[in-house]
Amino acid sequence: MAEGVYVQFVRVSGGTASGKTTVCDMIIQQLHDHRVVLVNQDSFYRGLTAEEAKRVHEYNFDHPDAFDTEQLLECIGKLKCGQSVQVPIYDFKKHRRCSESFRQVNVSDVIILEGILVFHDQRVRNTMNMKIFVDTDADVRLARRIRRDTLERGRDVNSVLEQARLLYAKFVKPAFDDFVLPSKKYADVIIPRGGDNHVAIDLIVQHIRTKLGLHDLCKIYPNVNVIQSTFQV
Ligand code: ADP
Ligand code: C5P
Repeated sequence: MAEGVYVQFVRVSGGTASGKTTVCDMIIQQLHDHRVVLVNQDSFYRGLTAEEAKRVHEYNFDHPDAFDTEQLLECIGKLKCGQSVQVPIYDFKKHRRCSESFRQVNVSDVIILEGILVFHDQRVRNTMNMKIFVDTDADVRLARRIRRDTLERGRDVNSVLEQARLLYAKFVKPAFDDFVLPSKKYADVIIPRGGDNHVAIDLIVQHIRTKLGLHDLCKIYPNVNVIQSTFQV
């Protein structure tokens, strides 16, 4: 890590439509007096080949191989070293990245990485300070997903209902059972009810503030080793 760079990395996992993004937005809102950025694992979905695109309904977007994890690790590595990065922008309607636009992410006090499989890869797992799992019942998630995919991800109701009937049962649910749920054991904090759980979010924000505050103290009193060892996780 470059001298003087201190970043709190927070990772938020959970099933599809569990409320991960909502929880992250609430944390960011409460930390308005700090520089906080959100990086979505979705940004690192691989683009489909022409053949895969033709048979998109047979593609498993919930399998770890659907993500370019090497690129994600490279991004995290750069942010850790205090370099800004260009994060791809993913188009859920076209199932591919926007080829010309990127989102610039600058070094910040807190970097939050959110996604269904951010606990899955050990290398990604080991880069973070705090791991949060948003735990929401499967039926609630499915209902939210149908609504979200029609309103926010450009899908028509029929395709979403078809997706719910076929893809959810074929890919989304098995991948949740095989990859997402087993990774819950790595969480430091499990939030039942997602964004409705204000107590959990307040406690998480308080913890992040404590870590950032201890770091500021160490900047003022660099020789106080006892404080330094407390904040370095
Ligand atoms: P994720 O990032 O886990 O996929 P989101 O936070 O994007 O989940 O939430 C999925 C959908 O559910 C969104 O449309 C969001 O507005 C809605 N949603 C999230 N949390 C709640 C909640 N507590 N109550 C009602 N709707 C919610
Ligand atoms: O935001 P959320 O965590 O729900 O995003 C992950 C979900 O997006 C996955 O469950 C996957 O099925 C879905 N997805 C999709 N179309 C894509 C890429 C991912 O429906 N092109």
